[in-house]
Amino acid sequence: MSQTGFTIWFTGLSGAGKSTISSVLERKFHERGLKFEILDGDVVRTHLSKGLGFSKEDRDTNIRRIGWVCEVLTRNDVIAIAAAISPYRDIRDEARARIGRFVEVYVQCPIDVLAERDVKGLYKKALAGELKNFTGVSDPYEAPLNPEVVCYTDRETPEASATRILNFLEAGGWLHPLNGRGVSEPQAVAQS
Ligand code: ADX
Repeated sequence: MSQTGFTIWFTGLSGAGKSTISSVLERKFHERGLKFEILDGDVVRTHLSKGLGFSKEDRDTNIRRIGWVCEVLTRNDVIAIAAAISPYRDIRDEARARIGRFVEVYVQCPIDVLAERDVKGLYKKALAGELKNFTGVSDPYEAPLNPEVVCYTDRETPEASATRILNFLEAGGWLHPLNGRGVSEPQAVAQS
């Protein structure tokens, strides 16, 4: 069955759950036989954006690179999943305008919960003033104004967040719904 490309653009603070929810989606997309690619901030920074830091200029460069790859994948009918903090609204909106088929998912979690979890130990350092330009502590984060989906990761499991994203994608005609046998149904719009 034909697949139409689009981009799922996660945005949210470090440790909020962008990569974790992407991994759940990865499994669900794989089960459906969909073609997709994940561009995770931490991973992209080890090759495509190696050497970039966390100034606004470097973050913008990082996000524009991720946006460009998402644009190319989307126009070749692959689903692109971007999972970077992407703290600046104007650059996210620029990516949205260029890509067109764009679903913004705001992964929201209160900063005190993130500081408590602190999986990488970065919040502790940032709050102690040892890490400059740390998003949400000593650097800005501009939350989306009209995201297509919001995930509340202090209150729902990654599985629940991913399921809500899938439901949104099916309801909006981005993905074919599954029938009872776990096979994608042809879309009504594609049949007419
Ligand atoms: S972005 O701002 O350019 O979108 P990106 O998602 O690629 O950021 O990278 C964020 C990751 O880099 C964080 O999850 C964290 O592990 C690490 N990191 C290191 N320093 C910082 C910092 N100053 N601000 C935010 N994240 C940082």
